[in-house]
Amino acid sequence: MQIKNIAVAGAGTMGNGIAHVFALFGYKVFLIDQNETILKNAVKVIEQNLDRQVKKETITAVMKESALANISVYLNLKHINSEIDLFLEAVSENKQTKTALLQQAKEIIGEKGIFASNTSSISITELSTASFPERFIGMHFMNPAPVMRLVELIRGYSTSDSTYETIKELALSIQKEPVEVYDYPGFIANRILMPMINEAIFALFEGVAKKEEIDTVMKLGMNHPMGPLALADYIGLDICLSIIEVMYNGFKDPKYRPCPLLVKMVNAGKLGRKSGEGFYKY
Ligand code: 3HC
Repeated sequence: MQIKNIAVAGAGTMGNGIAHVFALFGYKVFLIDQNETILKNAVKVIEQNLDRQVKKETITAVMKESALANISVYLNLKHINSEIDLFLEAVSENKQTKTALLQQAKEIIGEKGIFASNTSSISITELSTASFPERFIGMHFMNPAPVMRLVELIRGYSTSDSTYETIKELALSIQKEPVEVYDYPGFIANRILMPMINEAIFALFEGVAKKEEIDTVMKLGMNHPMGPLALADYIGLDICLSIIEVMYNGFKDPKYRPCPLLVKMVNAGKLGRKSGEGFYKY
């Protein structure tokens, strides 16, 4: 199956980054968000990030213009139809919201298209039952999507080989490195990343070192582009907590117990960059 038209539902950080990448590689993107402010902001952010690439000479001004021309924005699903080859949802991490949206998209798109979720933690198998399980797959981009090369392709219990192969080809066509993963809590990226972040927070909580020292160890000692505490602020502490809780509940294993400091900071509204303060101030 050849993918040409892609609907991306959710125009937040991940949704606009994903739309940016598909549009840059020539796909027609229908970017949908029921929040007009988020939708307008998404177009601005995509333009700024494309400008950044033009300045760095990784793309030309013509490529930027054609990417922007490939994106159309809508406030609801009424404007899409069965011409959509891929419906990818990147709305907030709430199972009910995602399920309702997928059920709506199923009615519109029908028997042909593939359905995907960019969820960071909700079971692909569970979400798949809201559309067509054989034609459902996890397509987990990393933040910032225009920069990070990895895409985890998560196979739900019923994901067919042809769905997997089509989406693998799609990922390669946008110059990403797809990695095949089966559906277990946290998949691979977050299963390894979140315990590291949680452990860094425990080290801070127990007074082993100050925040800057913990981040410096991982930056200079392991060549990570950001320390784990700065990265937690970048991802959002609420997102980190919800992912580690999915693993804690999913595996019933105390090794995924969230650090009490993480829980306290989320309760205090210190969510990282997006709230202006997390481990650092912004
Ligand atoms: N769009 C396009 N380009 C962007 C961009 C964006 N949103 N953000 C940064 N860039 C580009 C810059 O133009 C620059 O390009 P260059 O290499 O050609 O010069 C390059 O990325 C680096 O950016 P900066 O120079 O502005 O800043 P840094 O060097 O500090 O890099 C960073 C920023 C790319 C965010 C880097 O710090 C990094 O890789 N951090 C780690 C990110 C990470 O681990 N992400 C995964 C999070 S986990 C996840 O997403 C899973 C989820 O489920 C939780």
